[in-house]
Amino acid sequence: MHKLELTNEDIEVILPLVKGVASRHSSVEEPAFLDSASIYAQELPRRLRAFLNTFRLTEPSGVCIVSGYPVDDAKIGRTPSHWEKERSSSSTIEEEIFLHLCGALLGDAFAWSHQRGGLVCQDLVPIEQHAKDMLGSGSELELVWHTEDARYSYRGDYIGLMCLRNPDKVPTTFASIDDVQLDQDRVRVLFEPRFVFRPDPSHPTDTEHEAAAVLFGDPGSPYLRFDPYSMDRPEDEEMRSAMDYLIEALDEKLTGVALLPGDCLFIDNYKTVHGRSSFKARFDGTDRWLKRINITRDLRKSRVARKASASRVIF
Ligand SMILES: [Fe+2]
Repeated sequence: MHKLELTNEDIEVILPLVKGVASRHSSVEEPAFLDSASIYAQELPRRLRAFLNTFRLTEPSGVCIVSGYPVDDAKIGRTPSHWEKERSSSSTIEEEIFLHLCGALLGDAFAWSHQRGGLVCQDLVPIEQHAKDMLGSGSELELVWHTEDARYSYRGDYIGLMCLRNPDKVPTTFASIDDVQLDQDRVRVLFEPRFVFRPDPSHPTDTEHEAAAVLFGDPGSPYLRFDPYSMDRPEDEEMRSAMDYLIEALDEKLTGVALLPGDCLFIDNYKTVHGRSSFKARFDGTDRWLKRINITRDLRKSRVARKASASRVIF
């Protein structure tokens, strides 16, 4: 796995930068912050910038981790009981800024108007009422692996996750298409734009579907768009067989990492499916707590669905 451990020297550059940005912006949802994130990111240590640039450009692995950001467990406070938050104040603004600045080296953060109130930076926390649901806010059910927002052509190129707390070492799971052996016949079928993608449960108000290919790009080293849980089962025997083969192959390659506080995991959403193991939440303020952002390499491609060129919200 592509991994960078921050050194003390890195931290000595990062913390003053993050605190300086936090003194200028009260929230990472502020348009002025989002507009400037890529400028602030140029002040991150060069080795961190080079690491994420390599991940973006040469695709050395399906995920990468930046670890070692110091999270003060007392300062961040209790794990919230819901993702709805006060936009004006956050005990975790410095962590959110660090995640955003790293993300800004890969692309621009964006949000969906119909998902989690249109928030760009979201809290991934177990919600008691969702305990038995197949959602990021669920817990007792395994969150089955998927491409994030697979139904949408404007889906992110990367998912950025920052761990604030993970006391039960719950693994974030993933599998990369690069690790799967596919014969040419199956590749040909999976390249056909005839697979039906439906909105996953995190887009509850959307009822549209889209027909698209599961694999695309270079047939010798394809990109992947796959969420069997929210796709129609094809009637065509050849399509069904190719889909089942790929499900099994990804299942076989599924691995995971239990993120530690301060770890930032970036998932290449064109290469890697991801999920989460089940766990028993306590709902007492000490549960697993991650921050999540969606990142696109090209904000412009969704311009028709956004209100202004710099707006981050897709309607
Ligand atoms: Fe996801």
